[in-house]
Formats: sequence, C-alpha cells, structure tokens
Amino acid sequence: MFPTFKILDIEKEKINNKIYKDCLKKYKLVIIRNFFTKKEITDQVDIFRRRKVKLVKQSGNYFIGKKNFSRFDKTKIINKFSTYSRNQYLHTLFSWNNNKSFKIIFNKLIKLRNKILNISSKKYVFTYKKRKFINIPKVLHYPNDGFLDKHVDFNYDNDSNFIIVASQKNLHFDKGGLSYEINKKYTNLEDFLQIGDIICNDYKIKHGVKKIKLKKGQIGRFSLVLSMHQI
Ligand SMILES: [Fe+2]
Repeated sequence: MFPTFKILDIEKEKINNKIYKDCLKKYKLVIIRNFFTKKEITDQVDIFRRRKVKLVKQSGNYFIGKKNFSRFDKTKIINKFSTYSRNQYLHTLFSWNNNKSFKIIFNKLIKLRNKILNISSKKYVFTYKKRKFINIPKVLHYPNDGFLDKHVDFNYDNDSNFIIVASQKNLHFDKGGLSYEINKKYTNLEDFLQIGDIICNDYKIKHGVKKIKLKKGQIGRFSLVLSMHQI
C-alpha cells in the first residue's frame, strides 16, 4: 500500500496555521515542498562539511547564550514514552552565536515555522501555547552504520520539530533512512523525499532512521532540524 502522508507543495498550495493543523491532524505526517531549493541546501552542506569540529562528550542543558557544540550520540534515551538508541553526529547552531553555518536557511525556516504556528515574537525567547521556548537549530549526520531507533517525539520540554532533508538516497547513502510507522508498517520514506523538503510530524507518530549504509565515496545522511525547547 502506498504510504499516506501529505505533500504540501507551496508552489501550488497555500500554507497557514489552519491548513497546517488540518493536514497534520488528518495525515500525521506533512512534507512541505519547494520552500527551499536543492542547491540552497547542498551548497551549505558542502561548506559545513569542510569545517573543523571538536566533539564534546556531554553537552548539558539548553539555555540562552549556550555555546555551539558537536558530539557523537550513542547514549540510550529513556523517557516515559519511549526508550531508544541512536548513532549519529549532532551539531548545534544556536541563533545567538556568531556562526554562519546554515544561518540563512535556519532563519528562513524559523520565519516559516513562526507563520505556520502563529508565533509572533522574533526574539530568542518566544511564547507558544502560553509557554516560553528557545529555538534549537541543529545538524544531524548519520555516517555509515548511523541510525536512530523508532520513537515518538513526545517530551515535556520539546515541541514541533521541522526537519529539512539535506541528503538524497543513492547519491549520499545507499541503504537505510528516515522511516515512519504508517498503517502499522514501518516504512522507509527516502524514495519519496527530495533535498529541501521540510518534514513535520504529529508527535504521536513513531519514526526513526533505519541503519544507514554507505558505498565507497558516499558522505552519509544529513538533516537540518529546528526544534523548540521550553525554558
Ligand atoms: Fe523524532
């Protein structure tokens, strides 16, 4: 059966708070297409890959003014709603830091997200559903054998992730990839995705990244994630 999700092509369709909410309720998974071009994303991934990173082991809590950090995550996450492992690089790109990586892209995404969720503040701390949040822009990189176990996003201090697809299956990796539980079947969506797509999901839908396998010369799977963290 063909997986059911909604592709909202903004060259053909309008998007606003009501349309977004209705789609998410109906489909649980919405892909916003043609907001970013493929080139816009891949040019920045190329620049990002050339920078030197220093990996830290631990990163601590999120707060305003926190320095950017990069780490390799392989710790198990255990919370009331799911227990899952991961194998991935995580690089934070907080808006208050003077770092040019993906700055234009994340600023554009924050603007779109704010429009879609009716967030009016342009400050680092903003109010959503009467709670105070900060943005956490980050880059995830799955190298060979990288994965993220199936999980749900529900969590008390996190809300509404917007994920930009930054790699293409077959070109950047050979096997594995972003997968969602649709009609009780855990389905790899990579064949339906394009670089530049923005993925939004209902917090109750199970998802993860199936183990990434690379062929010689491939760089792995990159995604740009904008999450919001309650402070
Ligand atoms: Fe998730």
